[in-house]
Amino acid sequence: MIKYIESAEEKSSIAREILQALTDWFGIDESREQYIAEAAGQSCWASVSDGRKEGFLCLKETGKATMELAVMGVRKECHRKGIGRQLFDAAKEYAVRKGYEFLQVKTVREGVYEDYDITNAFYRSLGFKELEVLPEYWDEANPCQIYVMSLKTVVQTMAARHSYRGTFLPDPVPEADLITIAKAGMDAPSGCNKQTTDVIIVSDPEVLAQVKAQIDPPVAATAPAMIVVLTRRINAYRDRCFAVQDYSAAIENMLLAIANLGYQSCWYEGHITDDDRICDKIASVLKVPEGEDVVCILPVGKAAEEVHAPVKKPFEERVHFNSWS
Ligand SMILES: Cc1cc2nc3c(=O)[nH]c(=O)nc-3n(C[C@H](O)[C@H](O)[C@H](O)COP(=O)(O)O)c2cc1C
Repeated sequence: MIKYIESAEEKSSIAREILQALTDWFGIDESREQYIAEAAGQSCWASVSDGRKEGFLCLKETGKATMELAVMGVRKECHRKGIGRQLFDAAKEYAVRKGYEFLQVKTVREGVYEDYDITNAFYRSLGFKELEVLPEYWDEANPCQIYVMSLKTVVQTMAARHSYRGTFLPDPVPEADLITIAKAGMDAPSGCNKQTTDVIIVSDPEVLAQVKAQIDPPVAATAPAMIVVLTRRINAYRDRCFAVQDYSAAIENMLLAIANLGYQSCWYEGHITDDDRICDKIASVLKVPEGEDVVCILPVGKAAEEVHAPVKKPFEERVHFNSWS
């Protein structure tokens, strides 16, 4: 089980326990003691099984946009069990959630020591890319390889996006960001390219207040901006209408753009399209013409509270290879 370690004392004691068991990598007393001391002030995860610490990993901030994998170690007898990857996944998820854009890690360049060659291969398998070698960063015998990873790829953003229903910070969302989000929606595919989805960006505080006043019980009450999603239910061909698919694709694109820009949102459709037809009241406030239906609102803003990931079913239960079995 991967545990986030809160206490500084525990971080150092785990670091000591594991690093002292890994003298092939951490054989120099002085630098090992430095790793142990620094671990206390870093973000730390440990893999624990039946109370025994199997490995640990620490992250530290090296710039406003970047975290560094400062140190990690897994007991030799626990190698090849996926523990390193699990530790890394937990740390990466944390860095993404905190809004960092890059992860870096330093190690001894490949081709110098066999043990470090394994480390290099491991980092590459996690998705790290070679950035630069600094031959004298440590000393000539230990050329430093810097690896880097972008945390803002589409796939990372998909994994980091979660519906947010908490309060928002009051900071206004810059118009350029709202335009980027709306453009992502307009870039979505649509059946027969009929482009049946439109949006209204609501950022004017007065208009926003009027829209929010229609939402009872209230949701997104503190959001500093909102994207209102409209659909035109026309047929794409014969009697086939793809309007729902069209606006769903547009909404997902916008949710990803929102997450990528560091904002939070939630797909509010059920809440506004129920029997009380909040959607029609919003349409009336926004002077939406006949033939266009309001189907969803997406609040946009920075989270004032923790963002929580919902529990999803196990991957294996939902994804099948080549046949259902
Ligand atoms: C068609 C649709 C309608 C939704 N309507 C609402 C809603 O009215 N209120 C709400 O809180 N969440 C709504 N959601 C968000 C889902 O509850 C949410 O996506 C789901 O719980 C999974 O969580 P996740 O988005 O964090 O992965 C809706 C999602 C979809 C796709």
